[in-house]
Formats: sequence, structure tokens, C-alpha cells
Amino acid sequence: MSRSLRAKYRHQIKFVLDGQVIEADGVDPNRTVLQYLREDLLRVGTKEGCAEGDCGACTVVIADIDASGERLRARAVNSCIQFLPALDGKELLTVESLEQDELHPAQTAMIDCHASQCGFCTPGFVMSMFALYKTNPRPTRQEIDDALAGNLCRCTGYRPIVDAAKKMYGDLVGDQDWTRLPAGSDMGDDETYRVARLRSLQSTEVLCAEWQGRRFYAPVSLRELSTLIEKNPDAIILAGGTDIGIWVTKQYRALNTIIYVGNVAELLSANLTSDYIDVGAALSFTDAMPLIIEHYPGLEELFLRFASPPIRNTATLGGNIANASPIGDSMPALLVLDTLLVLRKGAKTRRVPLKEFYIAYQQTILKSGEFIERILIPLPRDDVHVASYKVSKRFDQDISSVCGAYWLQLEGDIVTGIRVACGGMAEIPKRAIACEQAIVGKEWNEETIDLAMNSLDEDYTPITDVRASARYRRLVCRNLLQRFYLESNGKLPTGVYAHGR
Ligand code: FAD
Ligand code: FES
Ligand code: FES
Repeated sequence: MSRSLRAKYRHQIKFVLDGQVIEADGVDPNRTVLQYLREDLLRVGTKEGCAEGDCGACTVVIADIDASGERLRARAVNSCIQFLPALDGKELLTVESLEQDELHPAQTAMIDCHASQCGFCTPGFVMSMFALYKTNPRPTRQEIDDALAGNLCRCTGYRPIVDAAKKMYGDLVGDQDWTRLPAGSDMGDDETYRVARLRSLQSTEVLCAEWQGRRFYAPVSLRELSTLIEKNPDAIILAGGTDIGIWVTKQYRALNTIIYVGNVAELLSANLTSDYIDVGAALSFTDAMPLIIEHYPGLEELFLRFASPPIRNTATLGGNIANASPIGDSMPALLVLDTLLVLRKGAKTRRVPLKEFYIAYQQTILKSGEFIERILIPLPRDDVHVASYKVSKRFDQDISSVCGAYWLQLEGDIVTGIRVACGGMAEIPKRAIACEQAIVGKEWNEETIDLAMNSLDEDYTPITDVRASARYRRLVCRNLLQRFYLESNGKLPTGVYAHGR
């Protein structure tokens, strides 16, 4: 590392593992947490299956200090697509961390319920169960299913694993070790000590981890971030890494300069203003969506069917929008809500409606050196109906064939406002203007919906690909509009599980 960099930046990655502060220097910033665990630390309990966030074999738990500043927050993540420097300042727990003198209740329950055969998936399941144990003292069956949605097992079958997730709460042991206590219990001195230790790792200096010319910058303030991005316009802006991680593990791309937004306090906040739900671009789905759903309950499906908890724990709204995939799930909903983006370049910001952000397949209006700072979602007016539906081959952890979102305002039976947007139907996520025009000002009835369903063909010319044929997509898009009509009239039950899992 050059002298000037050493003088200006902190360069050692520091994180806690089993009570020890690990100091990693001179590590390739493209190295994943999983590679570091298995190949550098020879800690092989954590497995690699898919190396793309899909199977959960690599699940670990990352703990950091929660919003209160007093407690630890434990979350399952996929270590196969997380870069090592993103661990800086956090505590890492792997399956080896759980066993001390005796097994953790999640492990004992897996044995007692015969929930492991070849055992390859088991460490990942145990870590997802451990994260559930820490965050939910009394999960429902639905919550257990959701907690395990990111873990695949190919031999045991899920029933014994779900049984184990229920049984682990009965196996509670009474010692004071943080890894063994359920969420909500008094974690006593151990947690206080762990929080203090993490606090001691926090630094106001910018991390610059460097290896053979590759650099990973982790600024902590918006000013540092915008300066770095402006000075390094070709750098990769890294948020949760759930898209970018795969560029490295599957496309074997070498990322030379990475600028990480995940430690920038200003980008991690969410506030309510008089007009907007104002979400920092680096806030994870897990943290951002509950606030949005509080105001728009019809968007619960968008949250619960977005990937899996380990992905949602790191994936950000900003990353979903900037990635500009035509099948990104948040964009149809954000489009119908008339969302604005705050874009920043250096000291200057501009507000842009999301509907003007996409210009072509995976292309946006972001200028060189510019990034998304905040997402402004208008607060609901009285009496609007809002919903988002996803159709994919698998219920959990799957990419949409079609994702539709709807915003409707009625005065009596007359439609005074309607917005419809779909993903998976065009090269960019976009509104269905012809469909909207066929509805607005008319009576909200079956005749109007039939006409509007035909208009969708003017709005979209979908393609056939591995996920769905163009014909299927057209049909689904029409049917989702009908579903929205029937749900808005109370003729169909609403809710993410209303039509089965
Ligand atoms: P990153 O991977 O960090 O970045 C993605 C892109 O956004 C990069 O180009 C990056 O440079 C850019 N970027 C990030 N933040 C900013 C910013 N503030 N300003 C400018 N540019 C920025 N997506 C769905 O929509 N629905 C799903 O159900 C879904 N399931 C998935 C399941 C798996 C197993 C995986 C691995 C991915 C899945 N994804 C899904 C894709 C991915 O999780 C989302 O696109 C996610 O929101 C990306 O956010 P991130 O923070 O991880 O972005
Ligand atoms: Fe499959 Fe990480 S190895 S999710
Ligand atoms: Fe073999 Fe789950 S026990 S894959």
C-alpha cells in the first residue's frame, strides 16, 4: 500500500469472531466471507452450495448494534456473496460459534427431530433457526416457514426441520450466554460487553482495504461518500451486494475499486416527513419495508416474497432501483406510488421521479459520479387501494415472471385516479399508460376492467425467456389486473397467503 493511502485511510478490516477481534489486512476485497472462513481460517462448518445466495448452505449470522445503541441485532446472511470488508465493525457468528460446552437448542432440536440426513444443508438451517431464535420468541408456523425460505434441503424433507424449529424453544437452557438466550430476554452483562466491544471497533476514519491494486472504500459520512464517488466515477458502488456478489462468484468479474455505502449513517435512516416516507438508499429491505407496509399494507406480498430473509437482511431498496432489472420487484410498486429519487453528485442533489429514471434495458439517467441518496415515497391519501402481486414458478426465493402493482382512487364508483405498473413485461419497469387511460373517469366495474385488460396489450410487448413465454406473461398481466379489481371490491380475499403458499 502506498504511503499516502496509509496516512489517509484506515486499512485493517476488524471484526469479532468467537470473542476474538480478527484483524485482516492485505485481503483481496473481492474475497467473500465464505472463502475467508473456509480457505483462510479453515473453518469449514459453513458450506458452499450454489455460491449465489439461493441455497442457504453458507448462512451465517452477523450481529451489530441496533438503533437503540444498547442491544445487539442478529441477522442471517448468505456468506457466499458478502465481501469480507463489509464485515468491518461487526460480529460474525458461524455454526462453530454456537457449540460451546453443549449444543445450542437449534442443534439439539435438529438431532431430536431427525432433521438431518447427509447434513450438507444442516449448518445453514441451524444458523437461520438461530437467527429466528434471537429475533422471535414465539414464531407462528408461517414465520418459521418464512425464516427458512432461503434454505434448501435435498434429502431430509422440510417437515422434520420445521418440527425442529418449533422444538428448539422448548430446549431453552438457562445459562447467560448470549448465543443461547431467546430474543426479548435480559441478555445481561454478556450482551453489554459485546456491544461495548463492537463500539470499540467503530471508527470515524474511512476504511480502505487494499490488495494488489484493488481497493474497497467504506466511508462513514455522506460527504466522504460523495467525494469518493465523484473522484472515482468508475468505482462500483456496493450496497447489500446481493447483485454484485454474483458478478464475482458467477461471472468471475474482478472489481478493482469498490465504494461501500453500508456504513454511511445518513443513508441508513428512514423518516416520515409531512409528505413522504423518506428512506435512505442503503437501508435493507428488512428495515425499510415494515415502515412502508405500515402505510401501504397491500405491499406486504412484495416484502414477504422478495427473495428470503438472508437476502432481505442485506439487499437494499437503492440497490434494487439502481440495478435497473426489468424484473426487480420493488419498482412496479414504487412507480405506482409516484416515488421520487434524490440523486447526489458531490455537494449537489436533484429530485427525479422514478418514472423518468429508466431509459433503456438496465440503463438509468444516473450521471458519472452520481448516486441514489434517498427514496421519497408519497404518504397515502385517504381511500386509496394499493397492492402488488408477484407471479413466479416457486413461492419463495424466486425471480418474478410478472410482478404487477396498482394504485386506485375512487369517488363512489367512479375512478378518479389509477396507476398500474408491471415488471417482467418490458425492457424496463414501466407504467401501463393505455390501461390507466382506459379506466380513469369510468365506473370501477367488470366492463371497465375487461376493456382495460385489452389495453394492456398496447402497453407491453413481453418476451419469451426461461421464466415464462410472452403469451403466458400477457395472460398473467391481464389476470393480475382482474385480481386487483376483485380484491378491491371484497370479492376475493386479500393477503399474501390468501391464495396458498
Ligand atoms: P448491490 O448488489 O449492492 O448493487 C446492485 C446495483 O445497484 C449495482 O449496480 C450497484 O452499483 C448499484 N447501487 C447500489 N446502491 C446504489 C446507490 N445508492 N446509488 C447508485 N447505485 C447503487 N430482486 C428482486 O427484485 N426480487 C427478488 O425476489 C430477488 N431475489 C433474489 C434472490 C437471490 C438469491 C439473490 C442473490 C438476489 C435476488 N434479487 C431479487 C436481486 C437483489 O437482491 C436485489 O436487486 C437487491 O435489491 C439489490 O440490492 P443490493 O443492496 O444487494 O445491491
Ligand atoms: Fe448457496 Fe450461499 S452457497 S446461498
Ligand atoms: Fe442432505 Fe439437507 S440433509 S441436503
